[in-house]
Amino acid sequence: MASIVVSGRRRICGEARVTGAKNAALPILAATLIARGPVELENCPRLKDVENMLCILSSLGAQCEYCGDTLKIDTRSATGSVMPQSISKELRSSIFMLGPLLTRFGSAVCTFPGGCEIGHRPIDLHLKGLMMLGAEIREERGLIICRADRLKGAEIHLDYPSVGATENIMMAAACADGMTRIFNAAREPEIEDLALFLNELGYLVEGAGSSTLSVYGGEARREKTTHRIIPDRIVAGTLMAAAAITGGEIRLNDVCPAHVGSIAAKLKEAGCKIEQQGMSMRLSAPDRLNEIRLIETMPYPGFPTDMQAQMFALCAVAKGTSVIVENVFENRFRHAAELGRMGASFTQKDRTAIIRGVERLTGTKVTAWDLRGGAAMVLAGLAADGETTIEHAELIDRGYEKLHETLNGLGAEIRLEE
Ligand code: EPZ
Repeated sequence: MASIVVSGRRRICGEARVTGAKNAALPILAATLIARGPVELENCPRLKDVENMLCILSSLGAQCEYCGDTLKIDTRSATGSVMPQSISKELRSSIFMLGPLLTRFGSAVCTFPGGCEIGHRPIDLHLKGLMMLGAEIREERGLIICRADRLKGAEIHLDYPSVGATENIMMAAACADGMTRIFNAAREPEIEDLALFLNELGYLVEGAGSSTLSVYGGEARREKTTHRIIPDRIVAGTLMAAAAITGGEIRLNDVCPAHVGSIAAKLKEAGCKIEQQGMSMRLSAPDRLNEIRLIETMPYPGFPTDMQAQMFALCAVAKGTSVIVENVFENRFRHAAELGRMGASFTQKDRTAIIRGVERLTGTKVTAWDLRGGAAMVLAGLAADGETTIEHAELIDRGYEKLHETLNGLGAEIRLEE
């Protein structure tokens, strides 16, 4: 278990580059299985989850290697369609492989991805969509076993705009016979990036970013493809939040302002000044933030659930009383109790938290229960009195490329403690 120690009362000031988006890279890595030739991914973040996805691809026989910041992948040599249980159990995103494996090999086996700290994380919408495309799916001893001689286009209405289910169905439908339309599809920027990648491979996906997607089944026609992963909007939001909670100022480069609109709106409501210039954004924060009347997490373009924990930390030290409602996951407030150990004052019932801002939090030993909760603890530690030791800090590496080094370059003092 890795711990980090965050020294308090540090202002975050300076300039940083936003890394590539984890939640775009993961489905795109799965989609390399339906590429016709070698793929080069630029701006692919070096994260634990990406590493695990590469392990799964390599175990299936694909060639994967980093050349500087470019990830080169050639899945022409892939033969297997049974994912290694040790990794697929670890990595929820292995579920994204079902669609591509099924469409390429006619079969796919993966471990039933369990729930995690933030909720039960069902995959019924993934499986229902694949079955509507003609897959036969059975669950046996914790494994999902899929078979399909030939997938056939269908009209699929998602009960919920699930990001993962939209991506899985899109990838499976890309090689199916005929057209597939996905209604109530997720609209996240990561969906658009995956659709762009599929079109660069030579497939035809239309409507990405809207709630109705059209996928025209066909063949990958491009021999070689290069794709640049979009910037990570949650990393951008987290770095802006770090400056906001410490009364600092930050200039972010390589960010897509349109993707962080809902986050910027809430930071402005808290009293931050934010300007955008092309692919850069500047935020300057007041000495103490104002309360944020209401944050409700929603599917994109609503406020992202992956920024909820970070904003909870900001509200904990803001003036007045703020309210956060977590509509996406049923158990995404575990960071609240940890903030309470630092002196935060709040009432939380079911999916609603009412947070009464305090002047100052006090550093102590806390736990990172999940990736974004861990990031929230770092933010709280930066603003607190004294030192904050964060246990299970390795969880943060799942979604942030060396977050402590980036923040140390902006005035923080964070050290690793084995
Ligand atoms: C993606 O998870 C992201 N992960 C999550 O980011 C993100 O929080 C989430 O989308 C919402 O934006 C990746 O992209 C790798 P969903 P995903 O399917 O696809 C319910 C992070 O911190 N649901 O949109 O699993 C589900 O229970 C991670 O980077 C079903 O009921 O999210 C949840 O309540 C955390 N049945 C809601 O939909 C299903 O078959 C949203 O889930 C699938 C989902």
